[in-house]
Amino acid sequence: MPRLVVVSNRVAPIREGEPTSGGLAAGVMDALREQGGVWVGWSGEIAASSQPGEEQALGPIRLVTIDLTRRDYDEFYRGFANGTLWPVLHYQMGLARFEWAEFAGYQRVNALFAETLGRLIAPDDLIWAHDYHLLTLAEALRKQGVANRMGLFLHTPFPAPAVFMTVPAHEALVRAMCAFDMLGFQTETDRRAFADYALRCAGGTEQRDGTISAFGRSVRTGVYPIGIEVDEVRRQAEAPANRRFATRLGASVHERLILSVDRLDYSKGLRQRFSAFERFLDLHAAWRGKVTFMQIAPPSRPDIQTYREIRRELEGEAGRINGRFAEVDWVPLHYLNRGFPRNQLMPLYNAAAVGLVTPLRDGMNLVAKEYVAAQDPDDPGVLVLSQFAGAAMELDASLLVNPYDEAGVAAALNRALAMRPEERRERHAAMIEVLRRNSLDRWRDRFVGDLAGSPRT
Ligand code: ADP
Ligand code: F6P
Repeated sequence: MPRLVVVSNRVAPIREGEPTSGGLAAGVMDALREQGGVWVGWSGEIAASSQPGEEQALGPIRLVTIDLTRRDYDEFYRGFANGTLWPVLHYQMGLARFEWAEFAGYQRVNALFAETLGRLIAPDDLIWAHDYHLLTLAEALRKQGVANRMGLFLHTPFPAPAVFMTVPAHEALVRAMCAFDMLGFQTETDRRAFADYALRCAGGTEQRDGTISAFGRSVRTGVYPIGIEVDEVRRQAEAPANRRFATRLGASVHERLILSVDRLDYSKGLRQRFSAFERFLDLHAAWRGKVTFMQIAPPSRPDIQTYREIRRELEGEAGRINGRFAEVDWVPLHYLNRGFPRNQLMPLYNAAAVGLVTPLRDGMNLVAKEYVAAQDPDDPGVLVLSQFAGAAMELDASLLVNPYDEAGVAAALNRALAMRPEERRERHAAMIEVLRRNSLDRWRDRFVGDLAGSPRT
């Protein structure tokens, strides 16, 4: 198998035991750990000039990081990637901004990543780029004359063409995406949306095997739902040393725990979820004093206005809901603004009677998968899952809800808390089977295998 060179904006935390910074870093780290390779990404540092930063070994992985300048950071990361693309890819066009100068900065940083790669790669290496930060990477590499096989996996959704076209640079982006040899999506809905854009808006054609021809190039497209390491999650959830932490936290919780874990992001539907919990307490008063809702949400992208606003709003809502329902010996909503190492998070999932995962849109949502994997098969909790998370395509034995329907989510919470053990076990067994089949290894092996087998440019 040729050497794998992975490129992503965010790389895993350098120090062991730190909380992971989202699904991408967690997934790529696990995928690379086994077979080794090179991982190139942003160092997380802002420096006086953009330059390759440190190079270090993370087990079998050679990690090469790049520093960004303040201007790069503002135009590429804070600007086009997270101010324009992120909201639009998650159907939140109302929260998006657009500046051509920021798009130029985005292309400039993609070219910088391409230059760094150009110095590192051998002719047979497979280049595997990740996510919406690097949509124009292959185009920049091709301009340098790099002919290696290159694939992109998009961890986020790809929206319907009419939504994507609200980004004024939409055509330049899709043209650049066609410079990859392969494009991987989380679900068929995302792949179809990309194909629809290429066919209807760019005069492209599609073959039965998913190959799309547009802008004078052919690119294979496919669906590769990212998975998790089921046994590893279960092991962490069960380890006695880890469980002590969950027990300590659980001591502050009454009888039954509803748990949500997300980066603090407006796409995760936290505001609607808080309202749904309030509705649940209104409609199902018998649960008052018996159920605690814990929301773990470490701040994310705090120097972007929309993120600061959602954080402020949630603090207000948490206070208001607790003010309305709390008793001397019962606080209904525990809102924790911090991350936890995985070995503490997994036993907490295990201790929760309900995993409440209700993004307004999500590429996959690994928390939903981790929650299922962490359960005791003899006495599992119930997953309440948004129909708009990519994970809903696989985890249809969960209680699927529309996150915008507060009464519907409240009813699902009531149903989950009252569900009989046989039904819980049946639903859990069905989901575990899917998780084992679509494992993280399979995600990596299928993507890398297909990329290695794709026709050379
Ligand atoms: P996203 O990639 O949008 O953040 P995912 O649900 O796909 O969403 O992935 C989140 C990953 O980050 C999961 O592996 C989860 O365990 C981890 N994570 C999320 N929140 C926390 C937290 N508060 N502390 C530690 N890890 C977290
Ligand atoms: O999975 C979505 C994602 O945007 C990743 O690309 C990213 O690493 C993670 O969330 C966390 O976001 P950020 O890198 O902006 O902190």
